Amino acid sequence: MSTVKEKLIENLIGEEKISQSKITIVGTGAVGMACAICILLKDLADELALVDVAVDKLKGETMDLQHGSLFFNTPKITSGKDYSVSANSKLVIVTAGARQQEGESRLALVQRNVNIMKSIIPTIVHHSPDCKMLIVSNPVDILTYVVWKLSGLPATRVIGSGCNLDSARFRYLIGEKLGVHPTSCHGWIIGEHGDSSVPLWSGVNVAGVALKSLDPKLGTDSDKDQWKNIHKQVIESGYQIIKLKGYTSWAIGLSVTDLVGSILKNLRRVHPVSTMVKGLYGLKEEIFLSIPCVLGQNGISDIVKVNLNSEEEALFKKSADILWNIQKELV
Ligand SMILES: NC(=O)c1ccc[n+]([C@@H]2O[C@H](COP(=O)([O-])OP(=O)(O)OC[C@H]3O[C@@H](n4cnc5c(N)ncnc54)[C@H](O)[C@@H]3O)[C@@H](O)[C@H]2O)c1
Repeated sequence: MSTVKEKLIENLIGEEKISQSKITIVGTGAVGMACAICILLKDLADELALVDVAVDKLKGETMDLQHGSLFFNTPKITSGKDYSVSANSKLVIVTAGARQQEGESRLALVQRNVNIMKSIIPTIVHHSPDCKMLIVSNPVDILTYVVWKLSGLPATRVIGSGCNLDSARFRYLIGEKLGVHPTSCHGWIIGEHGDSSVPLWSGVNVAGVALKSLDPKLGTDSDKDQWKNIHKQVIESGYQIIKLKGYTSWAIGLSVTDLVGSILKNLRRVHPVSTMVKGLYGLKEEIFLSIPCVLGQNGISDIVKVNLNSEEEALFKKSADILWNIQKELV
């Protein structure tokens, strides 16, 4: 007796079901799920795998996404507690871990999340030895270093989301002040994703017109327009959103998805992401900090050598010192 399927469909070729652009997201909390929905809506993967230790939540989130399959073009959504589900991933996005409590700094989270990385990274690499890894869990710069060490992957394939979000917030706020869409407001934040991040006021421009050429005091204490407050707002916005809604999710999900697009589509766009900066700007330690990087199918293929002025370089080095002082104590 043939089934309805057999009566309806005649199979002509037995196709091997190997994904070409599989993405795994580890951690299905607020950030992981925001990344998932943005990636699905942008059609960036042919398979999306989700991994979490909280099995009921994982199953619920997976079913909820699968039931939206009619509305996007990713034919396979899988999940499991076991990392075998992540096998053959092109890109693994790590959002697992504790999040900041109200008023808690990103750096205070460190040892808790280092221990989580120890438990997950070797298994991920075992199942996807050729993957790129995109680290989002905080403190993201230190954890990207930790993942690099634990994974044995080249530093070019272990990328921290770093200041990609900070720079997006920066451009949004500049846009608000000027009444111009953020895509036309160019500006970079480098260094630590967090309190010691460094705004590059010298490069802020609209249509190639450097704002600092219009007011050399831009971004300093004596600037009467107080542009400096924009950077202050960037630093405070994470804390403020956590105070208001308990976590941040949408902007980080969108900004991570922008990075995913550059990597999986080999776009070679430049993003401020966290990478190994030893040897740059006189830094001697193995520290990960954000600088403008070219992202493509092999991860970070190039870095853009930004000419920092003396004040920016001093702030960048201060950011590195802060991270190194924490990183060197890690077990
Ligand atoms: N880099 C950034 O710009 C940025 C922005 C926002 C949040 N974050 C960070 O992202 C992380 C996640 O934030 P969130 O709000 O989604 O937190 P969340 O608590 O909502 O989710 C974390 C998830 O990780 C899972 N998890 C914990 N241990 C695990 C393990 N060993 N293996 C697999 N899964 C595990 C939990 O079960 C949970 O579902 C935090 O560290 C947060 O600080 C980073």
